[in-house]
Amino acid sequence: MSAESGMDFDRLPEGVELPPSNLPKSKHIMGIDLGTTYSCVSVVLDDFPKVIPSRKGLRTTPSIVALDEKGRLLVGEDARKQLLINPTNTIYGAKRFIGRHFYSEEVSVLAKYFSYQVVPIGDMAVGAKIGDRVFSLPQVSALILNELRRNVCEYLKENVTQAVVSVPAYYTENQREAVRQAGAIAGIDVVRIINEPTAAALAYGLNKDYDKKILVYDLGGGTFDASVLELFENVFRVIATGGDTFLGGVDFDDRVVQFILSEYERTTGEILQCDNVITQRLKDAAERAKIELSAKTHTTIDLPYITISHGKFKDFRTDLTREQFESLIEDLVDRASEVCMEVLDAANLSPDKLDSIILVGGQTRSPLVVERVTQVFGKAPTKGVHPDEAVACGAALMAHSLLSNKSVRLIDVLPMSIGGRQPDGAFKVLFEANSPLPAEREVGVTTTHDEQQAIEVFLYQGEAARCVENEFLGAFVITGFAKAPRGKIRLKVKLSLDSESILEVSAQAVDTGEPMHVQMVARSPVAAEDIGLEPTGPAPAGPPQLAPTATGKQRRFSGLRHFLRRISG
Ligand SMILES: Nc1ncnc2c1ncn2[C@@H]1O[C@H](COP(=O)(O)OP(=O)(O)OP(=O)(O)O)[C@@H](O)[C@H]1O
Ligand SMILES: [Mg+2]
Repeated sequence: MSAESGMDFDRLPEGVELPPSNLPKSKHIMGIDLGTTYSCVSVVLDDFPKVIPSRKGLRTTPSIVALDEKGRLLVGEDARKQLLINPTNTIYGAKRFIGRHFYSEEVSVLAKYFSYQVVPIGDMAVGAKIGDRVFSLPQVSALILNELRRNVCEYLKENVTQAVVSVPAYYTENQREAVRQAGAIAGIDVVRIINEPTAAALAYGLNKDYDKKILVYDLGGGTFDASVLELFENVFRVIATGGDTFLGGVDFDDRVVQFILSEYERTTGEILQCDNVITQRLKDAAERAKIELSAKTHTTIDLPYITISHGKFKDFRTDLTREQFESLIEDLVDRASEVCMEVLDAANLSPDKLDSIILVGGQTRSPLVVERVTQVFGKAPTKGVHPDEAVACGAALMAHSLLSNKSVRLIDVLPMSIGGRQPDGAFKVLFEANSPLPAEREVGVTTTHDEQQAIEVFLYQGEAARCVENEFLGAFVITGFAKAPRGKIRLKVKLSLDSESILEVSAQAVDTGEPMHVQMVARSPVAAEDIGLEPTGPAPAGPPQLAPTATGKQRRFSGLRHFLRRISG
């Protein structure tokens, strides 16, 4: 319960329609692709993954939540319909915020791009405010998960309560945890979180007896993921993964919006003044033009009554050719190629060593994407997986293999380095990016002042040299040792990441092997420091000096870094 708003963020909000309560318990586990723009759900029936349509007969559900003018809560297609007329009361793009800190650089920049209000909940969570209601991001995602579950329950006439949910391979631990939380809020037991590219690879290669190296190129609505996997007899091993959490279809749309605005100015001599509704109309027209240009070489963007000038409604209409469009988005497609190259580099592979390139995500339908992929890899991408449905189907196949004990092995890697904070704020890498999971590390820690009774270790994730520029994961406190002069207490701390990269920590005395008490604490590091200000209070108990770990080539292609480069450039 949040004290400041008096709202309960651990439950589905009031007014949401739940699945029918009188259905028999199901044995099925759903596979869910919780997308930035669209979500999709699939269940394996008679050994085949089936996409479950919504009640409107559509195979994907917009990841949108809204309040209508009567204050009713709308989810999915209904919410999408009112995006154009009521953008300030419509939440979309929640996947870009979930699991991030309110005071992070990404959130402050992203918030400016959305028409709904982004507000803090507690000391660091992100909330979305529409009307007079505030929803936490896990709650928003829970509403979408509930909608998908409802469709499945009604379709199967069974009460399905378990799911395998996919997330971008590039998600941090905090973001994964927030998705698990969203499942719990929706009353769904998330039996496994699976990375989107791994799910797509399953849809492509399960039970096919392949012995291949593939690259999954997933360009969706908000994010780009590239992963190299090795497929061998139902073992799916991720060799390297990378991506950009700020590269997706919405960026393509933005380019078209900029084009419309500059054409408006060029042809009318005036600047189009945009409120939220006009901005949303421009985005919508831009997306429609973009989609049309995947099938045609020319389109007309029509914006009737877009503004009022000298007391009269004014229309605007402009043409856009595929060639023009491609020159607007070329650098975005090149950026995706760059990420692929970095990932191949991390995998120690040259492009010709790949057997297949799998395209996933709606935005890969743009012909320039296919063209560039063909150029970069020297071969055309493989057809045969559905770009909108492969991830959900792969998640459903994974779910089915859990149920049927079929031997499918997923071997994943850590997408971004995890490390601890040194006393001077430097980031000490403990697990390098692309370390195969599960993984284990041991570090030595010691007390830094006399009579110290607890050692606190702060963990971060990212590729920056300073902790403040990385994502704060959490802190753990080690106690259970006697008071002693500083440096006298020497402990061995073991950190293990399981196959879903859930972290466990244990500690013992180096000399005696005596186990110590370790407690994870939810407390944030000095918040002022994290937002770049000088801390005003006393410094927190000094985190220990971490013993050196194996060094290696540090891979630096975190989404945040690219993001920062983009806003500064
Ligand atoms: N025919 C098309 N041509 C070009 N782009 C398209 C086409 N159809 C859909 N898109 C774009 O694909 C994007 C949505 O793709 P998808 O549904 O795979 O994303 P998502 O799963 O919601 O996002 P993410 O995977 O980033 O979380 C949108 O930006 C949409 O405009
Ligand atoms: Mg997707």
